[in-house]
Amino acid sequence: MHHGSGNVFFLSEQNRYLKKELKMTKKVAINWDQLGFDYIKTDYRYLSFWKEGQWDDGVLTEDNVLHLGEAAPCLHYGQQCFEGLKAYRTKAGEIQLFRVDQNARRFQDSCQRLLMPVIPEATFIKACIDVVKANEAYIPPYGTGGSLYIRPMMIGVGNSVAVKPANEYIFTVFCMPVGAYFKGGLTPVNFMVSDYDRAACNGTGQQKVGGNYAASMLAHEIAVRKGYADCIYLDPTTHTKIEEVGAANFFGITRDNRFVTPDSPSILPSITKYSLLYLAEHVLGMAVSEEDVFIDELDQFSEAGACGTAAVITPIGGIFHHNRLHVFYSQTEVGPVTKKLYDTLTAIQLGDLAGPEGWITHL
Ligand SMILES: Cc1ncc(COP(=O)(O)O)c(C=O)c1O
Repeated sequence: MHHGSGNVFFLSEQNRYLKKELKMTKKVAINWDQLGFDYIKTDYRYLSFWKEGQWDDGVLTEDNVLHLGEAAPCLHYGQQCFEGLKAYRTKAGEIQLFRVDQNARRFQDSCQRLLMPVIPEATFIKACIDVVKANEAYIPPYGTGGSLYIRPMMIGVGNSVAVKPANEYIFTVFCMPVGAYFKGGLTPVNFMVSDYDRAACNGTGQQKVGGNYAASMLAHEIAVRKGYADCIYLDPTTHTKIEEVGAANFFGITRDNRFVTPDSPSILPSITKYSLLYLAEHVLGMAVSEEDVFIDELDQFSEAGACGTAAVITPIGGIFHHNRLHVFYSQTEVGPVTKKLYDTLTAIQLGDLAGPEGWITHL
């Protein structure tokens, strides 16, 4: 394993280096209003190796290419996990992270499920902060709707063909500027129910591991080909209850104004979803619940949405199931409760509204 040909900076030297870099107030040629969710190479990423039972000190490097052995278990047996979170530019020009501690904990859970070494919460958070600071020029300005997406990941490396945990690991964090994940922002989009499952009921649906996503690509492709934004997965055991909306969680607003979201062991515990559960209850004064959401009982909802770091809140216009499109509030307009939730959540993420204790990390 080597660090590649790019510049590598050890963290002990890094603060000095970063200060020099930031003074240069680099400008990058990016059309902030046109950003989607495509890869853009930024200047620095964090890279750390685990060997012989311990993590090294970690570096920031300019090299965006990983050098792996051909028998690395991540390549054959999917021993890898990842996270996704965002850094935001506030109106005052400051930078903040949203609930990074929650991503750190979910990452540890994924590592444990796949028998990978855990990353201490403080190391995870510091790596994210260092990468954001080193790539400050790529953080979209306030008001553009863009943000800096941060992608931490761990892979099992070292040559080992047997189906067993790797003996070496790489933890890396890169970032890129992003705009809307589903085109159209707060415009509702339609989804179709898939016959495929993304995860088994006692499998890895609760963890953010690559295998879940590989298993979801065909269902996604079929939905997109048929003109839908993405597919909806039902529970793998009975195929009667809503689980996920593509790579986002589902929520519905009942006709009696409750915020309802599915409860299942094979759903990824969305940090956005738990934030909305809190905001619906404590800011909007709604009753909230995690419960079974039967696909045959969509009439109970006056509004529905998909939520996640990438999706933020995407209103669901309708869900296609059994040859029929069930429309919630409207296929063209966002519903009033969904709009209020969106405004509250994004105001906290962008620093316009103070969030609950501990939600925001100021850089
Ligand atoms: C399958 C899946 N569900 C839900 C979510 C939403 O989780 P979060 O709100 O933590 O981003 C994600 C990630 O964005 C996901 O990949």
